[in-house]
Amino acid sequence: MDYTITILWLVLSAAALATGQYEVEPNKAMESVFEAQNLELAFPSPGERERVLSEGLYDPNSVIPIDVDVYYKHGDPTPSIFVTIPRFAKGVPYSLAYVTNEARPNGTLLQAYPSYEWHKSHGADCNGLTSVYRTQIDECGRMWVLDSGEIDFVHYCPPQLYAIDLESGQVVHHYRMPERLYKRNVSRFVTPTIELDSHNCDVGFVYMADSIGDGIVVYDVAAQQSWRIENKFTYPHPDFGTFTIAGDSFQLWDGTVSITLTPHALGVKQRMMYFHSLSSDWQMAIPLDVVNNGSNWKLNDVSAALDQFIVLGKRGSQCVAAAMSETGMLLCGLVSPASILAWNTRTPYTHQNLVMLIEDERNLQFTSGLKIVRNHEGKEEIWALSNRLQKAFGSGGLDYKEINFRIQKCGVQELLNGRPCY
Ligand SMILES: *[C@@H]1O[C@H](CO)[C@@H](O)[C@H](O)[C@H]1NC(C)=O
Ligand SMILES: *[C@@H]1O[C@H](CO)[C@@H](O)[C@H](O)[C@H]1NC(C)=O
Ligand SMILES: *[C@@H]1O[C@H](CO)[C@@H](O)[C@H](O)[C@H]1NC(C)=O
Repeated sequence: MDYTITILWLVLSAAALATGQYEVEPNKAMESVFEAQNLELAFPSPGERERVLSEGLYDPNSVIPIDVDVYYKHGDPTPSIFVTIPRFAKGVPYSLAYVTNEARPNGTLLQAYPSYEWHKSHGADCNGLTSVYRTQIDECGRMWVLDSGEIDFVHYCPPQLYAIDLESGQVVHHYRMPERLYKRNVSRFVTPTIELDSHNCDVGFVYMADSIGDGIVVYDVAAQQSWRIENKFTYPHPDFGTFTIAGDSFQLWDGTVSITLTPHALGVKQRMMYFHSLSSDWQMAIPLDVVNNGSNWKLNDVSAALDQFIVLGKRGSQCVAAAMSETGMLLCGLVSPASILAWNTRTPYTHQNLVMLIEDERNLQFTSGLKIVRNHEGKEEIWALSNRLQKAFGSGGLDYKEINFRIQKCGVQELLNGRPCY
C-alpha cells in the first residue's frame, strides 16, 4: 500500500474509532448460559483437593477460563459444554473441563475432561495434557485438543494434538510436534483450526497458531507431515501491544492467535485462510492452497510465499478469538469497544463493512473464546466466553464479588439479522 494512503487510512480508522463509527446494530444482549465469580472445580476426593492446595498445584486465583466448546448430540437439545483453563502458571489442577449441572457458591461446578488422570502429572507425563488454550470440535463429532506442552514458558513436553471421539471417549488421532517446528520455552500454541475432507474424517489439515512464537504450524493429518509458516505478518504490531478494556489497561505481545477458513458451503473457487495477530489490528488472508502445499514453506525462510499474503484491512482495535459462519461472515471478539464484530468476507474489509453486532462492556470483557457450532436441529449458534483478563493480568486482580467469567450464546441468524437471541 502507498505510504500516504496508509497514513490516511490510519487517520480515518482512528477517527472512526474515536467516534464509534463502526456500523452498530440495535443494542442487544446474548443469552447467558454460564456465569461464575470464580471457577468451582470438582476433585476425585476431598483429600486430593487438600493435597493439590497444600502442594501449590491448586490456587483458586490462577484458574482463568479461555475457551468454550459445545457439542450437540444428534437430536438432543441439551449440549455438552467444555471450557479450557490454560496453565499460565502453576496452580491449575486441570486444563480442560466440562460444565456440570451442579450449582456452587462461586459458580457451576466443572469436572475434568477426558478425566482427572489426564491432567494430574502437571507436565511430568507427556502423554497427558500439560496446558490447553483452545479446542475445536469437528463435524465428525471429535474434539481436537491442542496442548501447548508448557507451563509459564517452560516446555515440559513438546506441543501435541489429540483428537477425541466425543461419543466413545476414545483417542482417534495423536500428533506430537517435532522439535524443529516450535521454539522451546518460547512458543505457545493457543488455537487449533480443523479442515476436514467432506467425505473422510481422517483426511484434512490442522492449523495451529503459535501466539508467542509468532507462527502457524500446518499439519496434514493423513500424510502426518507438518510445516511452519512465520514472517512479518504472523507477528504482533507495536501500536497494538496495549489492551484497554472497560478503563483497565494491560500489555500483551502476541502474534497469530486466530485462524479461520472460507466455508465450503460458499462454493468459491479460491478458498482463503483468514488470520490475525492478537497484538495487531491487521486482518490478514492467504490462499488456502498455498498454505496447504508444504513445498512452499522452507523452515526459517521469512520470505517464503510472501507475495501471497494479503493485508485485507486494519480495524483500529484488537480482535481476540474469531469464528466463521457457513455464509462467510467472519465474527470476532473486539477489544475496544468490547463487542462482537462481523465482516462479510465477500466484501472489502473497510469500516463501512465492519458491523458491531453486540456492544456490551459489562458482559463481553475480553472475549477469548468464540465458536460457531451447529445445534441439534442443524442451526448455527455462536457461543462466546469472556473472562476479564485485563483485571486478572492487571495489578488489582479479579474482584470475586462480581461475575468474572461468562458463557453466552445466540443464534447466528438472530444475531446477524437484529432479532432477539432468546
Ligand atoms: C471461591 O473463590 C474464591 C476466590 O478465588 C476462593 O478464595 C474460594 O476458595 C472459592 N471457593 C470455592 C469453594 O472454590
Ligand atoms: C527451558 O527452561 C528450563 C527451565 O528453566 C531449562 O531447564 C531448559 O534448559 C530450558 N530449555 C531451553 C532450550 O531453553
Ligand atoms: C506446490 O508448490 C510447488 C512450488 O512450491 C509447485 O511446483 C507444485 O506444483 C505445487 N503442488 C500442487 C499440488 O499444487
